[in-house]
Amino acid sequence: MRILAIETSCDETAIAVIDIEGTYPTVNINVRADNTLSQIDIHKAYGGVFPMLAKREHARTLVPLLIKTLQDAGIYKKTSRHIIESPLRKEFQEIFEREPELFAQFLVQIPEINPPEIDAIAVTQGPGLEPALWVGINFAKALCLVWKKPIIAVNHMEGHLLIPLLQQLENNKYQLSNIEFPAIGLLISGGHTELILMKAIGDYEIVGETKDDAVGEAFDKVARILGLPYPGGPEISRIGEKGNKSIYPLPRPMMGSNDLFFSFSGLKTAVLYLTKKLGILTEQQKADIAREFENAVTEVLLSKTLRAIQMHGAKSVIIGGGVSANKHLRKQFSQAMGEEHISLYLPTYSQSTDNSLMIALASYFGKQTTATENLKARGNWRIASTS
Ligand code: KG4
Ligand code: ZN
Repeated sequence: MRILAIETSCDETAIAVIDIEGTYPTVNINVRADNTLSQIDIHKAYGGVFPMLAKREHARTLVPLLIKTLQDAGIYKKTSRHIIESPLRKEFQEIFEREPELFAQFLVQIPEINPPEIDAIAVTQGPGLEPALWVGINFAKALCLVWKKPIIAVNHMEGHLLIPLLQQLENNKYQLSNIEFPAIGLLISGGHTELILMKAIGDYEIVGETKDDAVGEAFDKVARILGLPYPGGPEISRIGEKGNKSIYPLPRPMMGSNDLFFSFSGLKTAVLYLTKKLGILTEQQKADIAREFENAVTEVLLSKTLRAIQMHGAKSVIIGGGVSANKHLRKQFSQAMGEEHISLYLPTYSQSTDNSLMIALASYFGKQTTATENLKARGNWRIASTS
């Protein structure tokens, strides 16, 4: 089947088109187009993501990005036919009530597109920033209505969990890794830090999570303390490479606790106190702190992941979410899992952070529906229940 997928949960506007077929583990994928527009430069000035600004940017860029994506996928045709029938206009008015700018672009440009050869439209329903999620959802609903296609609502975290299984064969052709279950998924992003027990694709249970800050959030906050720009993760990673270990020892919160919970807010506070004590920091001091912070985070994540493997008899580990782009973390996990004879699945660097390919992939295992009117943003949607 051919899927058009839309992602707008945070500060990336992304649209992909894939052809996908088969039954897991024999799944073949042809990525026809995969486009991501980052809003980082816009949010950088504010030191973080502003939901209303993110929403406005999604609304401004979705239509041009859709056209480009259809062109890249080789399924764009112009038509002179005006395909928006007048009874639909009222429905569109309702859908786009809070998106006047997107509605204006939609009305002018979408009727000029010949309904593309796709079987379904996938969209991120949550978790994420609700104003941002709504833009993608409303856009997807309206496209489904005008092109008469079913919709598939996707959980963003399931996208992060499945994309590491993508294995490139050649150019745009991919297949999925045949992993041994049960697997432990470690999801580490700007808003989440979760350990998932995965017995099959679609069978998830949250077996551990953070009690306060998410790992990515801790990276971003520590970066801000060190005077580094947003997003902090890649910056900490960059300067940490020049840092020396253990110059400024930081705590490993909850590392010894006999459970699968995390806590990162104390670690961030420890960095704050340390920097207050040190006064104006040299570049080398910043690098040393960044290095120690990365070490502390990695050690905690690794020790809890090993505990989860042991508790649940896992055979494989999947790491997903923006923080999985961290080089130090990838190296430490690769080494440790090698020693434990556990298969490790990591996303490519560009597929670690938000993208729409992961939404397209997860949607293949989701449910199609034509009842688009019930679809609502779910800012706090959890991938599964807690054990
Ligand atoms: O998955 P993602 O793109 O968006 C969310 O769903 O939240 O994750 C973004 C998070 C940010 O906190 C960012 O600082 C962090 O991932 N991040 C990194 C790196 N690249 C992105 N953290 C550590 N090291 C990196 N190289
Ligand atoms: Zn994400």
